Amino acid sequence: MSSPVISIELLADHSDCIPTIAEWFVAQSPEYYAGRSRRDIENGLAGEMNRDRIPLRLVALNGTKVVGTVVLRKYAGHSEPPLEPGLGGLYVAEGNRRRGIGTALVVVAMEWALQMGMDRLFATTATAGRIFEALGWKQDGFADYGNERLSIYRYDMDRRIGGNGR
Ligand SMILES: CC(C)(COP(=O)(O)OP(=O)(O)OC[C@H]1O[C@@H](n2cnc3c(N)ncnc32)[C@H](O)[C@@H]1OP(=O)(O)O)[C@@H](O)C(=O)NCCC(=O)NCCS
Repeated sequence: MSSPVISIELLADHSDCIPTIAEWFVAQSPEYYAGRSRRDIENGLAGEMNRDRIPLRLVALNGTKVVGTVVLRKYAGHSEPPLEPGLGGLYVAEGNRRRGIGTALVVVAMEWALQMGMDRLFATTATAGRIFEALGWKQDGFADYGNERLSIYRYDMDRRIGGNGR
């Protein structure tokens, strides 16, 4: 069977994806979202429907079905001191993983960052380090969040996207 054709598009053009993304995020991080109504979480996502400034969220679509997402935003995540600008909120729906969709989301987010004039990007992650490393990001320290130790990744935009950083 051939691989599905995935397109990476702006959430601004696909607001109908918001309830599914909210569902994923709540299921993944129930403590983080505890105490927030679904409407509040969806409103937060709606605030990421920008086209030329951050926060700018992208969605991966298989036909009309949303299968993944990522956001460019002010801060990378939970780190002290805060790292900016940041790439975060990377998620690919179960059953769609290990097909390159996460990588495609990061690549297109990097292209948007370049287009918006950003000269670097930061991300913090416990799970997606190999995706960043394969795209030429450099590991640049650690950030502790709760019981988790997150790796900080940095990408300097003067490098060619997808290059090896040399
Ligand atoms: C982390 C996450 C976003 C990765 O998404 P993904 O779509 O599976 O990512 P990719 O397919 O691009 O890459 C993942 C792995 O699949 C491999 N892969 C990519 N295409 C593949 C293919 N066609 N066949 C087999 N493996 C493939 C990649 O090489 C990579 O392998 P590695 O882990 O050994 O480096 C996803 O697992 C997820 O949403 N997890 C839960 C939330 C999370 O942890 N988010 C990250 C927070 S920063």
